[in-house]
Parts: sequence; structure tokens; C-alpha cells
Amino acid sequence: MASVQKSIIRQIFDGAPKGSINLALGEPVFDKPEWFYSLINHDVINDFSYSPTAGTEDARKAIVTINNYPGTADNVCIVCGAQEGLAASIGGVKLYWEGKKNELLIPSPYFLTYPTLGKMLGMETRTYPIPPFCKGNITESIEESIHEKTALVLLNTPANPSGLMMTEEDIQQAEAVCEKYGTFLLVDEVYRFFGNRENPISHDWKSLRESTILVSSLTKCFGLPGLRLGWAFTRHSVIQQIFAAHQAMVSIAPTISQLIVSQFPHYDYHQWIVDNQEKVFENREIITNELKKNNLEYVLPGGAFYILLKIPEDVLLTMDEMDIAFFLKDNFGILVVPGKAFGDYSKGFMRLSYGGDASTFAEGVYRIRQGFQAILQKGSSHE
Ligand SMILES: Cc1ncc(COP(=O)(O)O)c(C=O)c1O
Repeated sequence: MASVQKSIIRQIFDGAPKGSINLALGEPVFDKPEWFYSLINHDVINDFSYSPTAGTEDARKAIVTINNYPGTADNVCIVCGAQEGLAASIGGVKLYWEGKKNELLIPSPYFLTYPTLGKMLGMETRTYPIPPFCKGNITESIEESIHEKTALVLLNTPANPSGLMMTEEDIQQAEAVCEKYGTFLLVDEVYRFFGNRENPISHDWKSLRESTILVSSLTKCFGLPGLRLGWAFTRHSVIQQIFAAHQAMVSIAPTISQLIVSQFPHYDYHQWIVDNQEKVFENREIITNELKKNNLEYVLPGGAFYILLKIPEDVLLTMDEMDIAFFLKDNFGILVVPGKAFGDYSKGFMRLSYGGDASTFAEGVYRIRQGFQAILQKGSSHE
């Protein structure tokens, strides 16, 4: 029997009552500058042929420029969103090791497709806990699980769903541990541009080890999931295997999207990112204030646009976590994702996404509190 089921997020969405407030979806809603819309015309979108497998030279150069990566277009594979970037990179690493190493280490709580990718690609997949769910720091946690057969360690910073943000030093330490074991490190940095007010861009790549692979996309930072434009970047020769995995899965990323991103360096894309950052930081302040006002506990996020809300103990004693999420949806029209969707460490939490419309946050959090109270009342009337 299949052990991979319809995602919990999908189950939460399906059949949501009209007027529901959606704090479940990780889709940012940002305004787009006029110049972006001006690109959607025949002068720019004028090629519907296959691009080279790795992407056009212009698109690959644009990715190096936008990210300020220490490398060249040759180090980039343009992929169909970060999702395919993860699959092509894990697949590329698998091809590279030819069975000599076959273990994938993923963080927990995790972005929910990580374990599916591991299974799909035939990797032995294990998790390592990340702060605040482990005792020491993240490198110590990796060190407890890594060994000679580890082919690849996955890092996600800033993290979905916990909001954990690693410092550049933390990342360098993780790189050093991976190097010690001859292991590739994949940094999923789709939320890199959503750090916090002190460090708006969460980390830099002034120093980058050869065996580190970076994966990201236009999805989150520019709010453009539908373009399906992502990338994998590495200075290691494994880029060749990543090209091969990418070709075997999707041939190329959409040529239209590559034409669009190639234009970004000619416009003020930086200001666009700054505007989006401001929106995320404001949204974070609004949602955390609402949670405080309602006396709800949460894991303080360093970056990204998610927050893990702790389900009060007495509520958890009354109802199972999954049932709570469905109860909130069916009776209070509020959509949230139960923490167990992201692995064992986030059980007892709920993930709220604050990338969307901040005008719904006060009502959304209020509905959650009302829902908790109703669960407790239900529990006491059964006693
Ligand atoms: C941590 C993380 N990685 C990768 C992705 C996939 O991004 P994309 O839509 O660019 O495929 C997401 C999407 O939510 C994510 O949260």
C-alpha cells in the first residue's frame, strides 16, 4: 500500500467553508511593479523553443546577479521552481555517488516534501532535529546523525515551518562538518530574502564550499510561484549530474519564464525585494501582536513567513491535533496546518502562514482562540 498520502495541507483545503480565513497556504501575496507587467509582451516573450538543458545563458547570468552568488552562469541549472531544484539536486547527488553513499539527512520539522523526495529517489532518509527542538545547536544536531554513508545533508534556512534562521557562522560550521564526512550539503534558501529587520537578507555567500549546493526560486522572494522559475547553484562538478537529473525529469524550465527573469537585472528588482521584505516584516509584527493579545504561545520566528503556534495542553488533552485543525476549519472557518504534517518534532503545534493578507490576521487568530475555547467546553460537557 502507498505510504505517501494526499498532503495534509490539501486535506485541510478541500471543502473549506465559504468565508474561511486561510492561514495555511505558504503563498506570498505581493504587489508587482509596473516594469514587471511591461515584460509580458511580444518583445520579451518571443521564443517558444527548447532552451539549453541548463537554461539560457542570460537567465543563468541573471540568477548569479540577483543572488550575488560567488560563481558564474556555468554553476547554475535553471529548474522548474525550487521543488524541482530539490529533486534534481538530490537526484544529481544520487547519480554522483553511484550507490557508494545513499543516505539523506533532512531537518525536522521539515518542509513536507523532503521525506517524499527521499522516498521517491530511493534514498535512506533520516531526520535531525533543529532548534528549538534539539538540545544543542544545529551543527551539533547534524553531527549526531551524520556518518560516512551520508550522501547529502539538507538545510533549510530561514526554515519552513519553524522560522529558524541560521547565522552565516552556523552555515559555515555545518559546511565544515559535511566536508569532514565527504558529504554534500544542500541549502534550501527559498526564504533567504526574508530574514528580519536586523538582517533582512538572512545570509550571504562570501564564502561557499565547493560541495555546497544552493536551491531557490522566484516563488517566495518575488511572489511568482506560477512562473516555475527556480535554480540550483554549485561550483562542484556534481552540477553535471544535476543537469542530467533535470533533463530526465522535465527537459527544461519554461523558456518564457527564463526570458522574463533575464530582464530583471535591467530593472530595479532590488527595490521590489525590499518592498516585499517590508511587507513580511510588518506582517510578522501584526501576527505576533495578535497572538500575544490572545495569550497564545508560539515559537519566535527569525525569518521566513511562518509561525508555529503551540496548542494549549488542555486543548490537546481534549482533542487530537488533526481533529483540532478540522474542527477549526469546519466550525470556525479558519485554515491552519497541524504541526505533525512537518514531522514528529512539531507535533502539538499548528503552522500559521503570514505571507498573505494581514487584514485577516486579527480575525483569524481570534477564531483560533474561540475554537480552542469551544473544544474545551465540548470536553467538559462530555465529562
Ligand atoms: C522550504 C521550501 N522549499 C521549497 C519550496 C518549493 O518552492 P517552489 O514553489 O519554488 O517550487 C517551498 C514551497 O513552499 C518551501 O517552503
